[in-house]
Amino acid sequence: MNRPQILIARAIFPEIIAKLAQHFEVTSNQDDVLWTQPQMIEQLAGKQGVFTTGGERIDAALLAACPALKICANMAVGYNNFDLDAMTAAGVLATNAPDVLTETTADFGFALLMATARRMAESEHFLRAGLWTRWRYDLFAGGDIHGATLGILGMGRIGQGIAKRGAHGFGMKVIYHNRSRLDAATESACQASYVSKEELLKTADHLVLVLPYSAQSHHAIGAAELARMKPGATLVNIARGGIVDDAALATALRDGVIAAAGLDVFEGEPKVHPELLTLPNVVLTPHIASATLPTRLAMANLAADNLIGYLIGNRPLTPLNAVGRS
Ligand code: DGY
Repeated sequence: MNRPQILIARAIFPEIIAKLAQHFEVTSNQDDVLWTQPQMIEQLAGKQGVFTTGGERIDAALLAACPALKICANMAVGYNNFDLDAMTAAGVLATNAPDVLTETTADFGFALLMATARRMAESEHFLRAGLWTRWRYDLFAGGDIHGATLGILGMGRIGQGIAKRGAHGFGMKVIYHNRSRLDAATESACQASYVSKEELLKTADHLVLVLPYSAQSHHAIGAAELARMKPGATLVNIARGGIVDDAALATALRDGVIAAAGLDVFEGEPKVHPELLTLPNVVLTPHIASATLPTRLAMANLAADNLIGYLIGNRPLTPLNAVGRS
């Protein structure tokens, strides 16, 4: 019997290719070419599965052009690159890679918060530029983390990880807003109190965004929301580009509406709003919150196991929709 054919849409760990090659005829993209949609469709001809990394758009047009496709396995917890309704309608299974990245991503969110509030990037650039000539009482004085109020918008697994770090490690008062309130036991484990979005914006000293991107969360933080925040506040986005209106944020940072921002994700990334690049009070990182080697390997293994589980055993591990296309 012919083995199923799959496509790995981006460069990936060689051991993952080897693992998948035990079960499938594999076409991989180790040159890491960023295919256009017509190129992707061409590559997908006759393939039953595709390994995606979060940036490859799977929509109705692609699905119509790829009738053999049965599963798209994302090596990311976020799946806003998938049109889930179109996939369900086409009978194509979608899977993501939750849980395995939670702690690593929460670590990074906290690191970005600290680097931003304590002005680490800005002061390092100053030192490297040879501008440090003397100690001064207010040199790069930033905001405190310990004892401050940590606001979290989006209280899923990663948000809860950040809340625990803040509450248990740094004695922070933690408040959060989410589509639905957490149960009492989870709130207590996170030492977090549910507040309205308005209250969150008004009260947080440091606001971390960890909500999924959707049409509803597009520009959840824009000029109006930034204006409600404290002038000394820090904003951190490790969620998705598009949740923050980056142009409005650049203006707010320039005008001192808030003190600083730490951004790992951007609207239209890898492009970054040009004004953000010129501002000293923003720490910019290239979408690396889950990037430790063990975690990226675990994410890739989970995506691979979803392909194997579904195409070989009909049992995906982390499905996002309920379909079957035989
Ligand atoms: C995710 O898993 O959604 C992260 O953003 C990594 O791409």
